Amino acid sequence: MCGIVGAVAQRNVVPILLEGLQRLEYRGYDSAGLVVVRDGQLERVRSTGRVAELTEKSAATHGLIGIAHTRWATHGAPSERNAHPHISKNHIAVVHNGIIENYEALRTYLTAAGYEFTSDTDTEVIAHLVHSHYARGNSLLAATQAALAELVGAYAIGVIAADNPDQLICARRGSPLLLGVGSGEHFVASDVSALLPVTRQVVYLEEGDVVELGRLGYRIFDAQGTQVERAVQVSELSNESVQLGAYRHYMQKEIHEQPQALADTLESVCNSQSLVPGIFGAEAAATFADIDSILILACGTSHHAGLAARYWLEEIAGIRCNVEIASEYRYRTSVPNPKTLVVVISQSGETADTQAALNHAKAQGHGHTLAICNVPESALVRLCKLRLLTRAGPEIGVASTKAFTTQLAALFLLTLVLAKTRGRLTAQQEQQYLHELRHLPSAVQKVLELEPLIAKLAEHFAGKQHALFLGRGLHYPIALEGALKLKEISYIHAEAYPAGELKHGPLALVDKDMPVISVAPNDALLEKLKSNLQEVRARGGELYVFADADTHIHAADGIHIMQMPEHAGYLSPILHTIPLQLLAYYVALQKGTDVDKPRNLAKSVTVE
Ligand code: F6R
Repeated sequence: MCGIVGAVAQRNVVPILLEGLQRLEYRGYDSAGLVVVRDGQLERVRSTGRVAELTEKSAATHGLIGIAHTRWATHGAPSERNAHPHISKNHIAVVHNGIIENYEALRTYLTAAGYEFTSDTDTEVIAHLVHSHYARGNSLLAATQAALAELVGAYAIGVIAADNPDQLICARRGSPLLLGVGSGEHFVASDVSALLPVTRQVVYLEEGDVVELGRLGYRIFDAQGTQVERAVQVSELSNESVQLGAYRHYMQKEIHEQPQALADTLESVCNSQSLVPGIFGAEAAATFADIDSILILACGTSHHAGLAARYWLEEIAGIRCNVEIASEYRYRTSVPNPKTLVVVISQSGETADTQAALNHAKAQGHGHTLAICNVPESALVRLCKLRLLTRAGPEIGVASTKAFTTQLAALFLLTLVLAKTRGRLTAQQEQQYLHELRHLPSAVQKVLELEPLIAKLAEHFAGKQHALFLGRGLHYPIALEGALKLKEISYIHAEAYPAGELKHGPLALVDKDMPVISVAPNDALLEKLKSNLQEVRARGGELYVFADADTHIHAADGIHIMQMPEHAGYLSPILHTIPLQLLAYYVALQKGTDVDKPRNLAKSVTVE
């Protein structure tokens, strides 16, 4: 969601800005733009198309300092006049991620002060505010700091001035931003992948930091205005890991990366002979001994991982577990329990609602916090006392795939460690689970071999408007995830139900035009599920069943069976996720949608 790239160098920065933007495309955007300083003037190029179009339009643009942006519309429609950078009085240019909540009041005040607004965005107030302070003789840094003090809301910004070709000011509060350290050149970006072609040395900014970047150095000031040092880290992200390689789409690549992503996430555990709380952090043993319940907060796919984990946590570890949608929890009056472990789950670690929900939980007195996250330096990881990092690698496709299955693996580890802490895991069971976890990557690899069959099956869905997903128990959240994947990238309306709920309403929807996709593991609820499937078939519904071996569900007229290679016990949800991801992917191919960048969606949702 929105991307920022900025550079101050001794060479033309336009190609650096454009390549950076192209690498941020995956975050989702509807327009793009850049501005450079050239001969004491700001030279701006904007486009409502793809970054490729901006590149064409910028062919003659040249400058040694510049800022660039991909915009995901919040205030004002996607249009060239609303695209960033925004400029005040031909003098100050700003790019911004986030939302300024008091922009209406600031707009009224600035209009009265003689500023003319040329866009509908909240961002434009920042440009005019900085200008108003700069025009009073403040340095660009001081003017930006003064402007930021007047803002309410979330931001990551980059600022340049026409008469100052040597300084780029940037700042963050509530939206991610990092510096890139080069030799005789410095950079800023919202995501490290944007900077990999120019540097690996990065500085992750803290909340409230404001930075003055020059060619030869930079100065960081914290939220109180005190100059501070922040560690320079060397990013381990490889350039290849963000390249498409031989795959047609990132989503397909990421589906296929799941065996490796799971092996990496489970590496430390699978190489050892026993499970220890220490994998969640030094304080984990004491925390786990103190808690009596779990509260999981997350959004979207990550929320589905939490819903599945509840079954494990209550059944295996015997610990009470609540799972809440972060955007709801943050505004809900709930009853806090200091003995609850609050678990936030997030691929990006930057989701605004999940951060706000965590802060809300803390404000209510919850002191035990754990982040399950794919981005080590992210806000959520830093906000929690305990952490377990999923090692899925960068996820570029907007639809989450490998992040989800690795989250499930991490949550299973949490379940086992809590079960052990609570005396509910015998040594023999521990060894058996470790054995199953070691086998998991190869079990997933086998499921991936169903790809050609699923591609064929997807042809049945190309002309459909609706689809119903069914699951029971531990696999109901997997049905939810399958429906989410299908609707996100193929735009087919899809809903998921626990199969037992069918006759309480959704059965009314079932006719020959309604495909019904069912997850059918060989578990304790199998016979119940079979009866539910009969109910569908009796109403003429076409069934697509992903069935484990030995379920004895057979293909027949109107019943299509995809045979899963094996039943993985408690880990079965991870295996059953794979064919649903592939199904969504191949249906989207049939429909010709933009698989990696589905309409209206962004990768990391850093605004409310
Ligand atoms: C769906 C998807 C979203 C995210 C959600 C939370 O495919 O990707 O539903 O799961 O926006 O994002 P994170 O996990 O980054 O907090």
